[in-house]
Amino acid sequence: MNAAVQPFFDPATWTITYVVYDQPGSACAIIDPVLDYDSNSGRTHTDSADKVVAFVREQRLRVEWILETHAHADHLTAATYLRRELGGKIAIGSNITQVQGIFKKVFNLEPEFRLDGSQFDRLLADGETLAFGSLEVQALAVPGHTPSCMAYRVGDAVFVGDTLFMPDVGTARCDFPGGNATTLYGSVLRLFALAPATRLFMCHDYPPGGREPQWESTVADQRARNVHIHDGVTEQQFVAMRTARDATLQMPNLILPSIQVNIRAGQMPPVEANGTAYLKIPLNTL
Ligand SMILES: [Fe+2]
Repeated sequence: MNAAVQPFFDPATWTITYVVYDQPGSACAIIDPVLDYDSNSGRTHTDSADKVVAFVREQRLRVEWILETHAHADHLTAATYLRRELGGKIAIGSNITQVQGIFKKVFNLEPEFRLDGSQFDRLLADGETLAFGSLEVQALAVPGHTPSCMAYRVGDAVFVGDTLFMPDVGTARCDFPGGNATTLYGSVLRLFALAPATRLFMCHDYPPGGREPQWESTVADQRARNVHIHDGVTEQQFVAMRTARDATLQMPNLILPSIQVNIRAGQMPPVEANGTAYLKIPLNTL
């Protein structure tokens, strides 16, 4: 049975959050929820996440899983907020522990910050499946953009995270700590090996030329016309393109706050003696 997919596009970060479910009243999974963050004031908001909450309640859905495709660098995750509001368990790829190790050093986090992924409810290995209601989600390891990237397959739908973008946009960058363009090439080939009619759902869209945001494609469409990687593009060609392009990209606006929160599954850092939580800015590091 094909899952119903409800997208929520966040124009502030170009992120698409998905609710995946069978039918009204069924179990559901939420993928890549956004916590709004105003970097001028250092304030978080839940307007985006509350749209997801409203939809889940309207449809009488039961949240079983809140899935992260990876530790995002462009938005804060609302996973912890949604778990508190709606229930469910937060899951991410097991290689999040590598990402935690990298960024614990970058941010010189408190000694108590654990590198075992225990901030999440469940760490997923490649191929592992989770049932929710009559549906099942399978985790597919697709590293390259980060070491812990997972795509999630539910029936004929695959939520690709930051691997592919829409065909006219291309692929995700591979220059963050732990990223690797050769690895991403292999991960994209893994997606390309799925059935041609497989529905692919992007985590972001950065629409070029004034087109409206889009987020759904197919394996056949990507193989035919993705501007960075389509049938016939060699690993060497892809890595050369990706490496040259990454050298021109600025760091994402929210990478510093995002990573510090997202490697904690969306919890804020521990409050200090005055009762306030702080985020750090490492100088001359990234
Ligand atoms: Fe990302």
